[in-house]
Parts: sequence; structure tokens; C-alpha cells
Amino acid sequence: MEKIGRNAPCWCGSGKKYKVCHMALDEKIRRYALEGHIVPDRSMIKTPEQIEGIRESSRRNVAILDAVGKMIGPGVSTQQIDDLVHDMTLELGGIPASLHYDGFPKSVCTSINEVVCHGIPSEDVILREGDIVNVDATTIYKGYFADSSRMYCIGQVDEEKRRLVRVAKECMERGLAMVKPWGFLGDMAQAVNDHARANGYSVVVEIGGHGVGLEFHEDPFVSYVAKAGTEMLMVPGMVFTIEPMVNMGTSEVYVDDDDEWTVYTADGRPSAQWEITVAVTQDGYEVLTW
Ligand code: MF3
Ligand code: CO
Ligand code: CO
Repeated sequence: MEKIGRNAPCWCGSGKKYKVCHMALDEKIRRYALEGHIVPDRSMIKTPEQIEGIRESSRRNVAILDAVGKMIGPGVSTQQIDDLVHDMTLELGGIPASLHYDGFPKSVCTSINEVVCHGIPSEDVILREGDIVNVDATTIYKGYFADSSRMYCIGQVDEEKRRLVRVAKECMERGLAMVKPWGFLGDMAQAVNDHARANGYSVVVEIGGHGVGLEFHEDPFVSYVAKAGTEMLMVPGMVFTIEPMVNMGTSEVYVDDDDEWTVYTADGRPSAQWEITVAVTQDGYEVLTW
């Protein structure tokens, strides 16, 4: 990290002197780095203005998932969900981040039953009674990205799948409870993984969360299988997602050969995921996507 004079303007753009702005934070981070910990660089620490922008984007993302909840049900195609997300995002002044992202063809991901994530909406895919489906939306509003997803139960769902959906949400919440400044992302990961395993489930290793806000996928990669005390230090101003993929059976997954997006469980058993965008605050966390 570049050294800045005490009286020089802070790197964050606040216009304040460095010594009354980010200097103390930088020094504390530097001490952790010297102890051998992984620490965020400045690009991962958002200013209050940036967090307000992500909050505004998040409000829209949440409103979209609320609207999905009102229209989803047996007989609805995943294309109808895509149409709603696309049109509503634009009406709210935003852009769906998923559309054309790395060639992704639609505005939202719809992942049913054994689809772990990145399911592509299609008019040929009709939701049926008993399905569980993850709808994952990401909004860009005034340049700020908000990323969140929910599970929806379609009609009557059997108890086994309902338990998976509930425990996946609890995993996300257990992780969230560990988010505080000067803890480690691994503390959060272990809380997630322990809860999944205690319930007989597994957590996907290869696909995790990410920093978010100024871009769709920023550093750091956020694992949900890492151990407490490892991974990156959490620092006020960091914004990232908590989005563990919880599988009923094996944690092994594979990507569809044809569309190169859809991720399936290797054993064909169901998977569930809830996603939130979270900011690390001075004394804990703020969920931006609630
Ligand atoms: N929204 C997903 C996430 O949580 C990413 C989807 S990428 C897409 O990170 F291209 F498939 F949309
Ligand atoms: Co995400
Ligand atoms: Co997402």
C-alpha cells in the first residue's frame, strides 16, 4: 500500500485529511498483514457514499425478488420470471447485470431442484408442483451492483426438500452472524459449513461468493468451506455476498456441456441457495439486500 502523508487528502476521495479519515484503519490493517494474515486492499473498502449507492441498488433488487414471489407458481415458465425481472429492473431505472455477462443470455438465473446455480430461463421450462427454485437477480443502478437470491417452493413441496430450503437459509444466517470487523471470512465460512454438515448436507467448494458493489464479481472470492481464522480479514467498508450452495447429497457438481452455464449436482439430488449482499460496518454488519 502506498504511504500517504498525514495531512494529505485521504485516498478514499472524502476530501478529509488522511489522518482523520482512513489512516487509523490502514495502520490496523497493516499490523494484521505483518502478522501474516490476508488483508483487503483499498479497492475492496467502500466509502459511505458508495455503500449508499449499493443500498439504493439493493432496494431495487429486493423489490424485484418480492415481485417474483407474487407471480411464481405451478405452470409458470422460467422465461416469464426472466421477463418480469428484465422489465421491472428497467422500470426501476436499473440494468440486469446478468444479461450478456460473460455471454449469459438472460437477465436472471433460475435454478430448479438439482440445478445448483446459473440455470438459464427458458419458455420450455415450466415450474411444477413440488419444485424448489432459486431465483438469483443482480441489479446495476447508477453504476452500483446489488446481488441477491431466494428460494421459492412451488405448491406443495415434500418435507425433505423443505428442510433443505430452510437449512440453506439458516446456513446463510449463521454465516452472517459471524460478520464483524477484525474477524476472518473463514470464521463465517466455518459457521456455514458446520451447520450444513450438522444437518447431513454438504456445501459446494468450487463456487462461492464474492466482493460486489462497483462490479459484479470483485475480489475476494468468498469460500463457505474454509476454516475459522483463515481467509481474508473483514474490515469496515468491505461489501460481499453470502451465498452458500447447500446440497442434500454430495458436494460434487458439474457444468452442462451444451450451454456451459447450468451447474448440476453430480448425484442428481437437490441443492438450495440463499444470497445476500452484506457490508461490514464499524461494529458488525449491515445486510443491504433486506
Ligand atoms: N448472480 C450470480 C452470483 O451470485 C452470478 C450469475 S452470473 C450469470 O454471483 F451470468 F449467470 F448471471
Ligand atoms: Co453473487
Ligand atoms: Co447472485
